[in-house]
Amino acid sequence: MTTPALQTRALVAGYEPDLPIVRGIDLSVAQGELLVLLGPNGAGKSTFVKAIAGVVPIHSGSVMLGQREITHVASHRKIGEGLAFVPQTENIFATLTIHENLQLAAAVLPKALRGERIAALYRRFPDLASKPTRLAGALSGGQRQMLAVARALIVDPSVLILDEPSAGLSPKIVGEVFSMLKEINAGGVTVILVEQNVKAAVAIANRAVILVEGRIRHEGEASSLLADPLIAKLYLGTTTQAAEAP
Ligand SMILES: Nc1ncnc2c1ncn2[C@@H]1O[C@H](COP(=O)(O)OP(=O)(O)OP(=O)(O)O)[C@@H](O)[C@H]1O
Ligand SMILES: [Mg+2]
Repeated sequence: MTTPALQTRALVAGYEPDLPIVRGIDLSVAQGELLVLLGPNGAGKSTFVKAIAGVVPIHSGSVMLGQREITHVASHRKIGEGLAFVPQTENIFATLTIHENLQLAAAVLPKALRGERIAALYRRFPDLASKPTRLAGALSGGQRQMLAVARALIVDPSVLILDEPSAGLSPKIVGEVFSMLKEINAGGVTVILVEQNVKAAVAIANRAVILVEGRIRHEGEASSLLADPLIAKLYLGTTTQAAEAP
């Protein structure tokens, strides 16, 4: 078996030392996979991905990025190792321009690489390239999300984790953001997507994992998930006829 792109073992994490929120998660994400992480509000999805990214303390267990253990590596160094994280909020600097946002993100790279990486992102995101001096705070929700993803991609990551990138976006823009993620994934980047927008996320994902109370409650092929009436009713906020039956 090939080495997973990312793996957590018995991961316990939380904001306070005596109050674990993530309560022992074993998750293995294959190279090139697009995994969606679902679960009710407060299940610990954000805490889990923040712990992986190094912004919430890990109490015990481990995180492997490919062959390398990164459990206690500082968050900015994890980015340098190829683990990119787009948090749900504050993922761009609203008072800076598009270009300044990209320059700041590029600061983790060796100087000689920065200009070329920014140029490559402008080729990939022509919408951003067309207005580099626009303040990020003046962009539409979808464009902001695009900028946040562009910032994350600057290091050419092996794994990209996004926490609810569709929050607050209209269905049409959600579709655009998700097809962008699908494309990034098709380009070889392993993607972990935390989502509330279950149907849209499951439609692009290979596999789905459902967290409840800080633990994995269910994992399986994304396409089979929506068909399971109990799961749909309990965890996804949707009901099907079968779930309503006595
Ligand atoms: N900064 C924080 N300090 C202390 N506790 C927190 C903090 N952020 C979240 N929590 C707690 O951690 C638990 C899990 O929250 P988390 O944000 O990880 O859930 P989530 O699955 O991402 O939920 P949502 O779907 O609402 O985003 C909740 O009980 C929450 O109150
Ligand atoms: Mg969350």
